[in-house]
Amino acid sequence: MVGKIVGTGRYVPNNVLTNEDLSKMVDTSDEWIVERTGIKTRYITEDDTTSSMAIKASVKAMEDSKVDPMDIDMIIVATLTPDVLVPSVSCYVQAHIGAKNAQCMDINSACTGFLMAYQIAQSYIESGSVKNALLIGAENLSAITDFTDRSNCIIFGDGAGACVLSPAEGRVISIMRTDGERGKVLEAESRTPKDWKEREEKKLTYIRMEGQEVFKFATKEVPNVINEILEKAEVKKEDLDYLILHQANKRIIDFIIKRLKIDPSKVPTNIARYGNTSAASIPLLIDEMNREGKFKNGQKLVIAGFGGGLSWGASYIEIK
Ligand code: UT7
Repeated sequence: MVGKIVGTGRYVPNNVLTNEDLSKMVDTSDEWIVERTGIKTRYITEDDTTSSMAIKASVKAMEDSKVDPMDIDMIIVATLTPDVLVPSVSCYVQAHIGAKNAQCMDINSACTGFLMAYQIAQSYIESGSVKNALLIGAENLSAITDFTDRSNCIIFGDGAGACVLSPAEGRVISIMRTDGERGKVLEAESRTPKDWKEREEKKLTYIRMEGQEVFKFATKEVPNVINEILEKAEVKKEDLDYLILHQANKRIIDFIIKRLKIDPSKVPTNIARYGNTSAASIPLLIDEMNREGKFKNGQKLVIAGFGGGLSWGASYIEIK
């Protein structure tokens, strides 16, 4: 048995930040942002936190799944922006939805986090030790974004997406890679009270990203890992129904489509509206696709993620 997505949900804050708004904050323009990233708007928290967004997305996914919260055995939240260090965001979700029988954990693998949570849950379901799992990607990136740094602040957005997995016949094949030696190109240091002030002054607590390096890494490693997973699954890329990619930058997505020579209509995107929401981007997209009725049994799907760590990977999914 493998885990089939039986319910999805998403939540984004009400507050929309447009390119026009950003151009009043830093020296940028709508034209530059659209041309270099494909992003037009993103949602930014006011009263929400990572936990509150994770809870709101989870409630919708649970409703959609019709699974009783008492039958959820596992909750994993992928995030790099938990509200507090302890308890984990997954514990807040558990308490809110009343999933008393669930084991809970948060994982941080930056933008690859949701894919990693998905792969972990699949292993537990395949082993038989977990039946139903609730997976969430949730980020409050605006809390760690330096809104005076025009090269970074234009891409990030906040939000959460959630999926419920239940056992079904099918196959899921996964690859996950990490290269800590290249981790320096995307960093955000911890916000510990002891040196908070100094770090705050030096802006070390904000995300620092060498955008070009991350761009080069993504456009090289992601097509490679997708080719590798298709080879492992013995599936031709022409036979894929959908390639679901982390929404980092529309130009990265276009590069990947070009390198793989894949039909762009099989690679849905929503980055124009949400920006790059890190671990939330894949479940946000999956929820949109689900609610548009795009998923059917028998389809051949690939999900691919990449980001800080550096980390990257892919899963091939075929549910009977
Ligand atoms: O989610 C996973 C992790 N993150 C990513 O995957 C992000 C990957 N990287 C990117 O998306 C892109 O690198 C960025 C969107 C972050 C930046 O785009 P870029 O095309 O790599 O721009 P750049 O940083 O190389 O800058 C090119 C030029 C520079 O000007 P000069 O030196 O050529 O005169 C920058 O100062 O564009 C300038 N620039 C801007 N101009 C207007 C940088 N940011 C802006 C801006 N508006 N917002």
